[in-house]
Amino acid sequence: MSSLHHNDPEVSRIVDQELKRHNETLDLIASENYPSKAVFEAEASVFTSKYAEGYPHNRYYGGCENADELEELAVKRLKKLYKSEYANVQPHSGSQANTAAYYALLEYGDTVLSMEMNVGGHLTHGEKINFSGRTFNFIRYGVNKDTERIDFPQLEKLAKEYKPKLIVTGASAYPRIIDFEQFRRIADMVGAKLMVDIAHTAGMIAAGLHPSPVPYADVVTSTTHKTLRGPRGGFILAREEYASALDAAVFPGIQGGPLMQIIAAKAVAFHEALQPEFAEYQRNIIDNAFTLGEELKKGGFELISGGTDTHLLLVKLLGMNINGRQAEVALGKAGIVANRDPIPFDPLPPLKTSGIRFGTPALTTRGMGKEEMKQVAQMIIRVLKDPRNEAILGDVKKDVLDLCARFPVPGFTD
Ligand SMILES: Cc1ncc(COP(=O)(O)O)c(C=O)c1O
Repeated sequence: MSSLHHNDPEVSRIVDQELKRHNETLDLIASENYPSKAVFEAEASVFTSKYAEGYPHNRYYGGCENADELEELAVKRLKKLYKSEYANVQPHSGSQANTAAYYALLEYGDTVLSMEMNVGGHLTHGEKINFSGRTFNFIRYGVNKDTERIDFPQLEKLAKEYKPKLIVTGASAYPRIIDFEQFRRIADMVGAKLMVDIAHTAGMIAAGLHPSPVPYADVVTSTTHKTLRGPRGGFILAREEYASALDAAVFPGIQGGPLMQIIAAKAVAFHEALQPEFAEYQRNIIDNAFTLGEELKKGGFELISGGTDTHLLLVKLLGMNINGRQAEVALGKAGIVANRDPIPFDPLPPLKTSGIRFGTPALTTRGMGKEEMKQVAQMIIRVLKDPRNEAILGDVKKDVLDLCARFPVPGFTD
């Protein structure tokens, strides 16, 4: 840090501001987390200097012997973590992992069935503004209006009608366990392949607290930086039969040199996830989300699907005199960082939305538990019930600072 300060005080100042922001706010963004110091050290290692296009023992550059050993170790750990026949640790991000999977499994214009964005699907699952929706013919399935859970009868009907080559599931904002067996049954019925994007649930799946898609899916894609608590990146798992198509889709298909320093950090995160205490940590993330949700319900808020089985919950703001955007801004003023989110059948556009999403990975990593979740819920309730009352926002901000002082962000300061 001192060299950064010496060489570039401007960037150093912004980095310091960001650390202060984290230390003085509560991060309830469901897709964010704080990795361990060991992960940071690996990310900042000498591997940042190495070009290693290709795969172990088949590279386009000299001097790759250590890169080979590192990538093989990361792959070995990842396969063990998810009991997968094949693993690729090179995707730079979750979006890159999805792109590679599509290129390995599909031809231009093929039909794909995926989850609507309003019920939790991701941009790369076929939105028209994304390459996925422009390259392939995506048809979207949703949730049942009453239960707000995946509408399997609708999915089956759409599958029979459109005969997709691929069915995609996994989500950014779906609070419930996903039944992968049902997806496999429907995919088999119409001869489709099944891809599961576990970007959000990767940590819980690794810990055995959410069913694994590996026995059911042809291909599984993920990020490494959310519940899994690794560096920012992606990976792909699959059955061995897809190995060469997926390898080729990642490199040379859509990427050049792998980020070897990130692969080092992924290997560290996989090692951490293989330790027994990781399951306890994931259990705490889920328990914290449950407590937060129950307290918000007691405070008069409705949750999408009535609750959560995972690390995230979606609060419905319809009829509450506040939209998602306004909620995000008011909470932000009080030091509570969250994001607006569309809800199923949302009457408002994506810039406003009728929902707000909360996730507990980052606060759990800071060491917070049930008592703190109850306090956080009370803070959220106070803000959302009176979002324009500056005195309340100021009061809550003080409580946030007190809580933050008791639970410093790990990794940077320890
Ligand atoms: C389900 C899902 N897939 C893919 C991604 C994309 O990951 P990245 O931001 O690393 O490209 C996300 C990110 O939020 C996600 O939630």
